[in-house]
Amino acid sequence: MIDRYAVVGNPVAHSISPQIHAEFARQTGQELDYVKLLAPLDGFAGVVERFRSEGGKGINVTLPFKHEAWNLVDVHRGDALYADAVNTIEFTASKMIGYNTDGVGLVTDLERNLTFPIRGKRVLLMGAGGATYGVLHPILDRGPESLVVANRTPDKAMNLVAHFQQFERFALRGVSAKSYEQLAGSKFDLIINATSAGLRDEMPALPARIFAEGALAYDMVYGKETPFMKFAAEHGALAADGVGMLVEQAAESFLIWRGVRPDTRPVLDRLRRK
Ligand code: ATR
Repeated sequence: MIDRYAVVGNPVAHSISPQIHAEFARQTGQELDYVKLLAPLDGFAGVVERFRSEGGKGINVTLPFKHEAWNLVDVHRGDALYADAVNTIEFTASKMIGYNTDGVGLVTDLERNLTFPIRGKRVLLMGAGGATYGVLHPILDRGPESLVVANRTPDKAMNLVAHFQQFERFALRGVSAKSYEQLAGSKFDLIINATSAGLRDEMPALPARIFAEGALAYDMVYGKETPFMKFAAEHGALAADGVGMLVEQAAESFLIWRGVRPDTRPVLDRLRRK
């Protein structure tokens, strides 16, 4: 039987992961099937168990189930050890192994595709939901000068920082939590929007002079120019959407499942041309 994979979410109809994985499979000469599975909001675990019992080899997890996936798996590997969120599950004979490839996907897109090294940069990460949990560790690992997490509900940003500080390896790093008002007077080289604001054509309440010279504004939302990206362009920053992160995290999942990392460039070029 051909190896089967799926992306599980709610909603999931918009997902382009099946296209991306089909292109990876063609490129690397692998045979596999990759489908979308809509899970009821209270039925994630059941959908996953069924897919597994029917012979599925692994799944990607998208909103709003990444935290539930973290709780569901038997073992956490890599960034999933810290992230509290899982976006990739590998089914072995006896275990479900959970990974989080979102952060590596983001960092690879920033550093390789957009040629923007994080080392030494002042980084602002907006949002304190699942998306932020997934990417914080890989960003820190690249050695920014500082990392500020800002959130509309400041308590959530503080909880997030406290979560990461429980791990010994993060205790000494310069991470802080702020409200948007507290950003007045600060400048950043890299601002990453990990909020869901762009999906509703909104943006966080950023002060106008927040971008340092040569700054990059990165929105994890893909497929549209968000208000944050427009704002960035109007204030002299470069703006990028999250399509590169999407393709790079998919390539990391493919590597986990299939043992080979596909070339993301042709897939990204094709998606950008659309
Ligand atoms: P998840 O945890 O699934 O990623 P979420 O909990 O809805 O999703 O988190 C979305 C993030 O986007 C939150 O940080 C949210 O801010 P709050 O914690 O204050 O709710 C942020 N967000 C959504 N819309 C926003 C807006 N218009 N302005 C600023 N932040 C926004």
